[in-house]
Amino acid sequence: MEKRNGKLATCSMKSLRGFDFGTFILNSIRIFNNGWRKASHVMSDYLNRIGAGFIIDNSEFLDFDYVPDKIVGREDIQRELANKFSSIADLNSSCRAIITGPVGSGKTVLAKTFCRDLQKHLANKREIVISHVNCRNASTSTRVVQRILHEIDPGHPDRGLSMGELLLSLRKLIRRNSSHLIVVLDEVDHMLRKSGDDLLYQLLRIDEDQQGKGTLSLILISQEQVLDVLETAVISRMGKTNLLPIPPYNYEGLIKIAQQRAEMALHPGTYSKDIICLIAEKAVPSGDARLVIELIKAAAEASEFRQDAHTDRLITIKDVHSQDKILAVEMISEIETVDDLKPHAMLVLLSICRRLRKKETMTTGDVESLYEVVCEEYEQDMKSHTTIWKYLKELENRQIIVSRIDTIGDGRGRTTHLSMPHFLPTDIANRVEMLLKKRLK
Ligand SMILES: Nc1ncnc2c1ncn2[C@@H]1O[C@H](COP(=O)(O)OP(=O)(O)OP(=O)(O)O)[C@@H](O)[C@H]1O
Ligand SMILES: [Mg+2]
Repeated sequence: MEKRNGKLATCSMKSLRGFDFGTFILNSIRIFNNGWRKASHVMSDYLNRIGAGFIIDNSEFLDFDYVPDKIVGREDIQRELANKFSSIADLNSSCRAIITGPVGSGKTVLAKTFCRDLQKHLANKREIVISHVNCRNASTSTRVVQRILHEIDPGHPDRGLSMGELLLSLRKLIRRNSSHLIVVLDEVDHMLRKSGDDLLYQLLRIDEDQQGKGTLSLILISQEQVLDVLETAVISRMGKTNLLPIPPYNYEGLIKIAQQRAEMALHPGTYSKDIICLIAEKAVPSGDARLVIELIKAAAEASEFRQDAHTDRLITIKDVHSQDKILAVEMISEIETVDDLKPHAMLVLLSICRRLRKKETMTTGDVESLYEVVCEEYEQDMKSHTTIWKYLKELENRQIIVSRIDTIGDGRGRTTHLSMPHFLPTDIANRVEMLLKKRLK
């Protein structure tokens, strides 16, 4: 307890103003309940912030494998998938779907939440057993059937059984339990490549011995390009109308996912709506929900690691960009892209950087007034409104800035908001200032 008080006493009053004191004390207690107190005097200082929980409340929710209670922004697609399973409440019925889409478009989480919700929904009507197999880890058809069997009967022997025997076991097990099995073959292209589509055929025919009906439903998942190349035969076997292609996430979708994760994983008040928008904007070129989660994690960790008695418990723009080199390599243009801009395009860019160092977004009106100040500083005559617009377009084409039109209030006012999701504004400003020195001599 003394140590805890000691820790609190080191915080200045400034840093405590506006800060949730209760949370802080709770966090301190949690730290010490975790056995920290005992170990702290032998630990090195550099470990102090591990588990301190200033920004991250629950890191489990930033894990890729975590399946949220509810997925966000995919209502239409959820409805479409449910549509393909509309007859599933009927005891003799089985259904099929093929979900395709690019990396991180939410295929796996869509299937997982769907099966889980369906299981609950039919609780009093039909018992549903789910077997979700990732074929990347079980890439031959024999391994896949073994995994399915294990899910239903964890003690089922693996070894020495032929495919025919394995399938027979599967049939018996499901019928004995009088339940309906939904098999999800995730990343199915791995299995198709190694073992062909024979297993699909076998699974689709599992009821053909006339002793049962509606035993098994099948959901296949694959990234679209792969399935296109591999298997028109698979699609025709599963039924063309059962195809469910899903698009990459757009800006709005990524914001919803980022917001949901941040709310679950981070302490309230440690991030702003604008920081969430900036994170979503960074992930737009890939449309990958996983990137959004990685960016939240990276930003939260960066913020957590720089916390001391004088810092605000807040994720900053710099935190968001802290792992750019590792996370965003493929989709951003290089910083050298600014090198051959015209001097006044650089002045416009410099005015943008100066604002975006502290704020996540700005309006085009802001640009004009800040550009005026920068022109004064560099003793230059301002270019016309039209030319400034032309430069803004150029900066956007080079992916240095991104612009979005927001409708305000009744939708009549349309404001253009600019942000710099792929670069740290300070880096660009430093480079431009250096270049301007030479160009405007
Ligand atoms: N709509 C959503 N709501 C909440 N979380 C989502 C949503 N979509 C995706 N996610 C999360 O984003 C991450 C990536 O999603 P998921 O694993 O389902 O993508 P995928 O399409 O299966 O990717 P891959 O092609 O690499 O297998 C997961 O952590 C998932 O929980
Ligand atoms: Mg997946």
